Amino acid sequence: MKIFLDTADIEEIRIAARWGVLDGVTTNPSLYAKVGGSYEDILREICRITPGPVSAEVVAEDAEGMLREGRAFAKLARNIVVKVPMSEEGLEAISRFADEGIKTNCTLIFSSNQGLLAAKAGASLISPFVGRLDDINQDGMIVIRELAEMFAIHDIESEILSASIRNPLHVTQSALAGAHIATLPFKILQQMIHHPLTDKGITTFRADWDKARQAAAAKTSAASAEATETTATAASLATATGASADEKGSRKGSRNGSNGTARDAAPKSGGRSRSSRGR
Ligand code: E4P
Repeated sequence: MKIFLDTADIEEIRIAARWGVLDGVTTNPSLYAKVGGSYEDILREICRITPGPVSAEVVAEDAEGMLREGRAFAKLARNIVVKVPMSEEGLEAISRFADEGIKTNCTLIFSSNQGLLAAKAGASLISPFVGRLDDINQDGMIVIRELAEMFAIHDIESEILSASIRNPLHVTQSALAGAHIATLPFKILQQMIHHPLTDKGITTFRADWDKARQAAAAKTSAASAEATETTATAASLATATGASADEKGSRKGSRNGSNGTARDAAPKSGGRSRSSRGR
């Protein structure tokens, strides 16, 4: 199942695109009202971010007005899909857009019969509003399930876009019910990413990693301190040994006269002479 973002907020769309999970975007006048600015500029920017279908909704209530608005949207980018509400005028506009090769998303679908008609008129996307049905105590998922069955039985090419998603469970249910696409608010996409055990697991792994690295670093520094100490001891031993060797050498030198002066040597030889003289 494809994932669309249901928003006109450029930053949210950029983030979802970076996550590599964005297949398209749906906007509507209420979502646009939240961000303001130029709707056309926003649509152009969204179409630059995602190559997937980007729904731009008409507000005219008559077919001619819808066609006028929709044709202008279609000129903004190649991936624009004109969003048209389910109504008698809407069906006519969808049918004429199809003749012109302009793709449409039929919105505000609340029954499988409405979805069937939108598909027959030529809409590429059919948008049942799951959450708004749930809000009035009707099971929105039934419409998704029925349309999926109808489209499969009759080989209908239109795609079912599960809209008005209120929670992550709606996404799972939409996928299992046979929706081709689910369009979600950014917050629900975030909720789908997170799980308390995942987040806890990441924290624990990080803490264990840090502990292990600290222990390894402490071991390395202890080993190097020990090595330094050994070297120092060896050096001082060597110095000490060298000094005594020098001392020995110096004593030896004194004995064999190599290190002595002529004056030093004289009495020795004199002594020998004296003793030999005495013999
Ligand atoms: C979809 O295309 C609609 O814009 C959207 O899902 C409506 O959701 P809502 O019922 O939360 O306004």
